Parts: sequence; C-alpha cells; structure tokens
Amino acid sequence: MDDMDQSLVHDVGDNPNEYFRFLHSRTLNTLNTNYLLPVDHDEVKRSEYHHRLVQFLFSGRNWVGPVKEALQFGQHRRVLDLGTGSGLWAIDTADEFTRAEVIAIDLAPIQPEHVPPNCTFELCDLDEAPIPYPDSFFDFIHARSLHIGIRNYPRLLREVARLLRPGGLVLLIEPTLHPCPAPAGKPPMHGWITLWDTYRKCLRRQNIDVTVPERLSELLSEAGAFESVIIREGNVPVGFWPKDPHSLSIGQLQWMDYDLLLPALRPLFLCSGLPPSSVDLLIKDAQNDLYNPPYDPSTRLHIAYATKRFTAP
Ligand SMILES: C[S@@+](CC[C@H](N)C(=O)[O-])C[C@H]1O[C@@H](n2cnc3c(N)ncnc32)[C@H](O)[C@@H]1O
Repeated sequence: MDDMDQSLVHDVGDNPNEYFRFLHSRTLNTLNTNYLLPVDHDEVKRSEYHHRLVQFLFSGRNWVGPVKEALQFGQHRRVLDLGTGSGLWAIDTADEFTRAEVIAIDLAPIQPEHVPPNCTFELCDLDEAPIPYPDSFFDFIHARSLHIGIRNYPRLLREVARLLRPGGLVLLIEPTLHPCPAPAGKPPMHGWITLWDTYRKCLRRQNIDVTVPERLSELLSEAGAFESVIIREGNVPVGFWPKDPHSLSIGQLQWMDYDLLLPALRPLFLCSGLPPSSVDLLIKDAQNDLYNPPYDPSTRLHIAYATKRFTAP
C-alpha cells in the first residue's frame, strides 16, 4: 500500500455523537460493534490508571526497549499508538519526543482536545486491514491492552510489520486474561475465577484469541518480519498488600483498574446472552473477592518488543 487510504480514517467532524451509542447503561463505540467494552468517562479513567501503573513499572518512563535508537535518525520521526484509549501514552510520548510526530488511533473520540502540537488522534477500526498508512511510514509502534478488540491478531502484526520502516521498533503490552492461581493452602477466589472464565468465553465467542498475551513472542516470530524479540513478563500486585511504596502504588492502581473493569464488562456479558440477574451476581461475587481477598493476589503483564528486519528472513 503506497498511499494513505483516507477512506478508512474517520473524521470526528461536526457530530462526534455519531461515534457513540448507549447500551445497557454504558456508552459504547459505533465503529466496531463487536468491541463491547465502554468508551466513556469510567473507561477513560481506567485507561489512565493503567497508564500510570505501567509508568511505575517502567521507572517513570512510557516505554522499554531501544526507543531512543529507533527515533534518533533522520529528519522526520513518526510514532503510532494503536488503541490509544485515554490518549495519555500518546500525549506523554509527544511531550518527550518533541521532534517526532505521534499519531494515535482509537474507535472513539475520547481523548483530550488540547494536546501537544505533534500529537494527532485518528478514528479507525484496526480490526479492518489494511491500517490506512503507507508502508514503512512509522519508526515506532506501540499497542497496549488492545488484543481484546482484535479478532485477527496475526494480521494486525503483519500490518505493524508493513507500517514500520526496516529497523523500526514495535512495543506490545498485554495484561493476561487468566487469574493467578491461589497460593498453596489458601482458598481459591471462586467469584473472581468465574468472572474471568466467563469473560474469556464471551471473547472467544467473538473470535478473540484470549491466549495472545501469553504468546506475544511466538506471534511476533510467526509474523516473519521481526528480529531481536525481547519478552519481559512478571507478576503485578493487585491491592493494598505490598509493603514497599513502589509496589504498593502499582497494587493500588491495578486494584482501581479492576474495580472499574468489573462493571464495564456488563454490556459484553449481557450482549453474550447471559441473563441480567446472572451478570449482576457474577460481578458482585468478583467484587467481593476483589474487596476481601483471602490472600495477596497478583496478575501478570506480558511485554514484548522487537525490531523490523532490514531484509526478508
Ligand atoms: C483496554 S483499552 C486500552 C487503552 C490504552 N491503550 C491503554 O493502555 O490505556 C483498549 C482501547 O483500544 C480501543 N480498541 C479496541 N479495539 C479496537 C479496534 N479494533 N480498532 C481501534 N481501536 C480499538 C478501544 O476503543 C479502547 O480505547
């Protein structure tokens, strides 16, 4: 694809409301009706918590890997953020790399209006290939917590490979959809586990591959265009139990993220055909485990970065 196909980029124009619909007491997007997480104030707040959490994990930065190297050559550097949500990552990155142009894509115009001059938000469904930018257009592509909106993640990675210049960098960050098991001798959090089982089942019905976070390395290798694939994954505390202040901040942010996630799953559960009374009970039982955990819970975050090869393998 040599030229940008502008027909796939949507203009917010005079009537931003056309990108929103109201369903089961939450605001959802209209561009991709398979994506059933809300695009409203609470979901923006959740995206902000997640952004701050990852900044804590990355010691105050927005990224890991050779980002500076990817952005240091040439005149015109370009960064792409896929599924930007609150837009905070794109804004912070534009502030940090003032000579780079940062473009951030989402399904709904939920990002702030006043942003750095080198930051632009676009509307586009990333589940529709091709993503409307020319080959080798970007130096650095970031996608965080996106796989739940992408039915064909391998195709998305092939698009990322096409959009990156040779030597360009991709950074993928995906939280697991599988709760960590209870430590030996502790009672399992049944409500919590059942909610995540149901969440994965609903996503699978929509042809979302719920194993993407655990398979980032394999998927990057299969895309055939990347080298130097680095994986960093680890446990993230959930809640207020860590003793050191750094881990405590992370645990609090993850807890607040989950506290907003549980009610945000309601439209997905209801649209999947679960009766309202079962959905309410499912969420209430999971909230009970989140608020009164029988042990110190954690979750897992999967991070991968890789550079695009200069030559075909
Ligand atoms: C869980 S949020 C993560 C937001 C942000 N990346 C972060 O880490 O805070 C997922 C975001 O991806 C967007 N999204 C999901 N599927 C998408 C798709 N097919 N095309 C474009 N954006 C999508 C959603 O609208 C939402 O804002």
